[in-house]
Amino acid sequence: MRMPRPRPGVILVLAMAAISLLLLSHVSPPGCPALERPAEPQEVATWPPNPQRAASAPCLANLSVAEHPDFSVLPAHVRDFLLYRHCRDFPLLREPPAAKCAGPVFLLLAIKSSPANYGRRQVLRRTWAQERQVHGAPLRRLFLVGSDRDPREARKFSRLLELEARAYGDIVQWDFHDSFFNLTLKQVLFLEWQQTRCPDASFVLNGDDDVFANTDNMVTYLQGQDPDRHLFVGHLIQNVGPIRLPWSKYFVPKLVTPDESYPPYCGGGGFLLSRFTAVALFRAARDLPIFPIDDVFLGMCLQQQGLEPASHDGVRTAGVRAPSPRLSSFDPCFYRGLLLVHRFLPFETLLMWDALSQPQLSCGKQSAVS
Ligand SMILES: *[C@@H]1O[C@H](CO)[C@@H](O)[C@H](O)[C@H]1NC(C)=O
Ligand SMILES: *[C@@H]1O[C@H](CO)[C@@H](O)[C@H](O)[C@H]1NC(C)=O
Repeated sequence: MRMPRPRPGVILVLAMAAISLLLLSHVSPPGCPALERPAEPQEVATWPPNPQRAASAPCLANLSVAEHPDFSVLPAHVRDFLLYRHCRDFPLLREPPAAKCAGPVFLLLAIKSSPANYGRRQVLRRTWAQERQVHGAPLRRLFLVGSDRDPREARKFSRLLELEARAYGDIVQWDFHDSFFNLTLKQVLFLEWQQTRCPDASFVLNGDDDVFANTDNMVTYLQGQDPDRHLFVGHLIQNVGPIRLPWSKYFVPKLVTPDESYPPYCGGGGFLLSRFTAVALFRAARDLPIFPIDDVFLGMCLQQQGLEPASHDGVRTAGVRAPSPRLSSFDPCFYRGLLLVHRFLPFETLLMWDALSQPQLSCGKQSAVS
């Protein structure tokens, strides 16, 4: 689970993204037939679906779950999750050119982003997620996005993502509603995509678009690891269970899972895995029912495969506290030794990247991160 820490700067960034969108909405890309959205799925359909339906037909709601007496009092997004929990096949709307994974890929950066997060994607392209070689190891970047629930918004974002895809070739988009409770679906669709389109990438960083990742440090760490053995590291979370408070963002009612505890998992802000583990997760994800909280779901997949997540001290998805009162928590020296920190505003990411790239950055003993 991510630790939310809302910040006022977010509003500014959203405003800037909105302005960029307004500007972009006047540019209409010529003919993109694949972008036409199919009709909205019928909410009042029956289960099971007519087997004669085409494979590409929208997945129908499982209405038998709505007969449960506890169903009607659940928050709307939880009801929505339960009705469509069984749906896993969603059309791929766009993907990068095959050249993305044609050569060797050492570290594939697979970053979950929402259609509207243009500002975040732009800054990551310029900073830690730049496609480049680090100590001879090639990095490749992908943004994983869904679609907007509102068809009019979806068309606008489709134009935006088409422009981005053409300029940067780093968008993977599927036709499902990009929402918090659909993050697991995004994860599962990515694992499937990777098995066919980028199976040889040695390692994957899966993370959010509001983290600061020290990709140089990651490569150094991963160069000591074997891609064909189990590796799943991040901010390890253990001995927690479902939050049963209906107003919580992480509320999971008994109707979703009766279990009172979660297996160990790594916080979803960012974690690293090997290609061995990507295959194992792909296999498990096919067999397990979708669980709405994506990082917990991966913990379930690991457990099903008899694998364990591990902790890396350099991954701080719950935020950081400065090691000493003399050092600001934004001091680049403090981030020099870390792998990944949640959460950064776009301008902070740019400043930190710039500071860390200064050859004259000199850090004293006081700033060492243990
Ligand atoms: C539909 O919901 C019922 C009740 O929760 C459940 O038993 C059944 O497995 C669901 N069907 C599918 C295909 O998920
Ligand atoms: C997930 O996406 C599907 C397909 O767009 C949608 O039917 C469903 O309502 C979404 N679920 C949530 C919880 O947003």
